[in-house]
Parts: sequence; structure tokens; C-alpha cells
Amino acid sequence: MKEITIETKIGVFESMALVPEPVKKLLEAAKVARGKAYAPYSNFAVGAALLLDNGEVITGNNQENASYPSGLCAERTALYYAGATYPKAKIVRLAIVGGTMHGETSTPVAPCGACRQAIAEYEIKQETPIEIYFTGVIGKVIKSNSLSNLLPLIFDKSQL
Ligand code: THU
Repeated sequence: MKEITIETKIGVFESMALVPEPVKKLLEAAKVARGKAYAPYSNFAVGAALLLDNGEVITGNNQENASYPSGLCAERTALYYAGATYPKAKIVRLAIVGGTMHGETSTPVAPCGACRQAIAEYEIKQETPIEIYFTGVIGKVIKSNSLSNLLPLIFDKSQL
């Protein structure tokens, strides 16, 4: 057996103050969306904001359900709305802000595996990388230049 090492690269901003202004604006939009999350079961609210290449900003938040698996994450709520409304637009950037409603989460909230798979689909469809920024309610902001940094060995249409 041969072992293969897969490396990845992310950026870390120690605080929101260090993030470039246009990104800060998108994170702010995600934070506003987070405030409207429907998360009565987990009490963990997440907001996502997408910047499209037509200038539109699409936001989403987690939508939970008494039948737990029927709920949806903030990222996919925003992604599917964007895909349904602007099918030809490319996604330039995605900002995610999340944390418990009972405190000030300082751990950056990374997109879950299912959301990574969904982001990958759009990245492949549009043939350009999507910049991803994620953070807690306070603290560090993590940047990835592309979804591919967050999901190696992806399953995509080439395998169908
Ligand atoms: N959640 C998101 O909306 N996005 C993520 O990336 C992580 C998790 C939601 C799903 C659920 O409503 C709550 O956070 C707790 O898992």
C-alpha cells in the first residue's frame, strides 16, 4: 500500500476587524440572516450570505422541523434559493456566521458535510471557485479560496 498525503490551505483572520471591507459586509448580511433563523430545537442559529456575480446578495438561515431531519442548514437554504432564482449567476463568495443562541460562540462555524457537498455541486457547475468565509458570533474568521479545500476526494457527476 502506498500512502498519499492530502494537504489543504485556509486563511485565518484573528478578528472581524482584519477582514477586507466587502467581506465584512457579506458577513454582516449573514449575521442579520442568522437573527431570523428558525432553530427552536437546537437553539443554534446560523446565517449564510452569498454574493453573486450579478451583484445580488442572497441570504438564508437554518430552518428546523419537529421531524428533525426535515430541517435545513443556512447554507443550503441560501444556495438553493440562489440556484432557483438566478440559475445562470455564479456564486463569488459565501459568508457563514453561526453559534448558540445562549452565548457568544467564538469557534468558527464551518459548513457541515452535506452543505460542503451542495457547495461543491455549484462550484463544479459554474467552473469557478467559491470563496468561503466562516466565523462564530465573535472571534476568528476562517477563509477558504475554494470549496475544494474543505472537501477532498469529492463525489461528483464524473463518477455517475
Ligand atoms: N447548521 C447550519 O445551518 N449550518 C451549518 O453549517 C452547521 C449546522 C444548523 C443545522 C441545525 O439547525 C443547527 O445548526 C444545529 O446543528
